[in-house]
Amino acid sequence: MQKVTLNTLNEMKKQGRKIACLTAYDAGFARLLDQASVDVILVGDSLGMVLHGENTTLKVSMNDMIYHTRIVKAGCRRALIVGDMPFMSYATPAQALGNAARLMSEGGAEVVKFEGGAVVADTISHLDRHGVPVCAHLGLIPQSVHKLGGYHVQGRDKQTAKQILNDAKLLEKAGAAMLVLECVPHQLAGEVTGVLSIPVIGIGAGAQCDGQVLVLYDILGITERQPRVSKNFLESETSIQAAIEKYVNAVRVGEFPAAEHQF
Ligand code: KIV
Repeated sequence: MQKVTLNTLNEMKKQGRKIACLTAYDAGFARLLDQASVDVILVGDSLGMVLHGENTTLKVSMNDMIYHTRIVKAGCRRALIVGDMPFMSYATPAQALGNAARLMSEGGAEVVKFEGGAVVADTISHLDRHGVPVCAHLGLIPQSVHKLGGYHVQGRDKQTAKQILNDAKLLEKAGAAMLVLECVPHQLAGEVTGVLSIPVIGIGAGAQCDGQVLVLYDILGITERQPRVSKNFLESETSIQAAIEKYVNAVRVGEFPAAEHQF
């Protein structure tokens, strides 16, 4: 078993090997993901929706994220662990560094993720200089749901597409180690993926991204409504383990996402 690191992901990008990523929130599922060779486990603040039953991620706290990252870490040996920074936990570089340090030292995150464009560039540089690897998150950024007016596809017109492309370049330059691109047209995601040298992980962003991430509860059909960008992989399988393996394989061979999962 070879531990997955950022070097592994960079190498996979160079070799054109797809990166399979899923969310997890506890040790039991983390162990199943690890056994299925999921490359990256994201302890997403989506837990506010899928575990807590809220309709946004905004109530998730730093303590929630540390707790869930710690118990994911307990079940995981191989995958790279990315921990989400919750709403308003990274409003200034100093605040972000303090909270990221907790997520890494108390929770065991190996990379921290937060949302936003140019506004977080200085924060990314600050964390990078202090040895904290950051996964940026562009496109549909759920913590800004009220500003965006709902969970809508982003970058559909020329101007917003250009903005996302420019932000992606800027955040890479600032020191981002990887990027999650959520719900943007697949052509735009392809352009961003081609132009960046860091790994780009898509959700609802098409097959040209370097890898894919989905919410675990969506692929197991536990969530109330299946998002269009996701797929129930348990439907045609007889166990959770087989469903997770099916997802990993579908990403690796380029069968997922199909045309109906992208914009
Ligand atoms: O919180 C989360 O699970 C996420 C993914 C959906 C990308 O940010």
